Amino acid sequence: MEKLCMMLMLMLCSAVMAMPVVLGIDESPKAVEEWFQNLSHRKEKLTKLHFYFHDIVSGKNPTAIHVAQANTTFTSPTLFGLVNMMDDALTVGPEPDSKIVGRAQGIYGSACLEDFGLLMTLNFVFTEGKHNGSTLSVLGRNSAFHEYREMPIVGGSGVFRVARGVATAKTIWFNLTTGDAVVEYQVMVLHY
Ligand SMILES: *[C@@H]1O[C@H](CO)[C@@H](O)[C@H](O)[C@H]1NC(C)=O
Ligand SMILES: *[C@@H]1O[C@H](CO)[C@@H](O)[C@H](O)[C@H]1NC(C)=O
Ligand SMILES: *[C@@H]1O[C@H](CO)[C@@H](O)[C@H](O)[C@H]1NC(C)=O
Ligand SMILES: *[C@@H]1O[C@H](CO)[C@@H](O)[C@H](O)[C@H]1NC(C)=O
Repeated sequence: MEKLCMMLMLMLCSAVMAMPVVLGIDESPKAVEEWFQNLSHRKEKLTKLHFYFHDIVSGKNPTAIHVAQANTTFTSPTLFGLVNMMDDALTVGPEPDSKIVGRAQGIYGSACLEDFGLLMTLNFVFTEGKHNGSTLSVLGRNSAFHEYREMPIVGGSGVFRVARGVATAKTIWFNLTTGDAVVEYQVMVLHY
């Protein structure tokens, strides 16, 4: 299975450009201002990312915890009002011990009265390779029982400054007893 899964990788679909290797990102206001001043000289590129998201809600070390609910949440067919905070591992492969390349940090909440629909507000925080220290921000709707869910990437930091794109999620493993899940993500992101 591991072999089938691609490493978190960067694909430059635009023309090959001579880019210096980014060794740590200067986040000072001056560096950010310079970066914006140079923006017109930069070419937008498309990067494709692929990883697995481990939503562990059970056991001694959950990475997603229930933080709030309404008094009507557990009588609602869609668990309306349930709010969870996550710091979920992002890995190269679907196995629980696969190499970690980042975290998904944020909140998901049950936001739909009629169907099961989650409001996702989170940052993908990358911790490996050329994306180490960079983030992507997701704000979208996750119909978690649908096969594919498309969520907007609304921004980013570091190598992903002023990024925009789309993340697609597909649940590949779900334990009904514990609620733990492994979700495959593909992210297509435009950035400079
Ligand atoms: C902006 O462009 C100038 C001239 O090409 C270059 O010297 C400088 O390093 C660039 N700054 C950034 C933040 O990329
Ligand atoms: C929920 O809480 C509100 C405010 O405390 C209360 O007025 C209401 O009766 C409660 N509803 C139920 C179903 O317990
Ligand atoms: C990622 O960046 C942090 C902070 O700069 C550094 O401590 C860490 O060693 C880096 N990790 C990798 C795998 O490069
Ligand atoms: C789901 O979790 C329960 C409790 O840990 C475990 O007994 C069961 O084997 C798990 N099911 C699957 C499909 O992994």
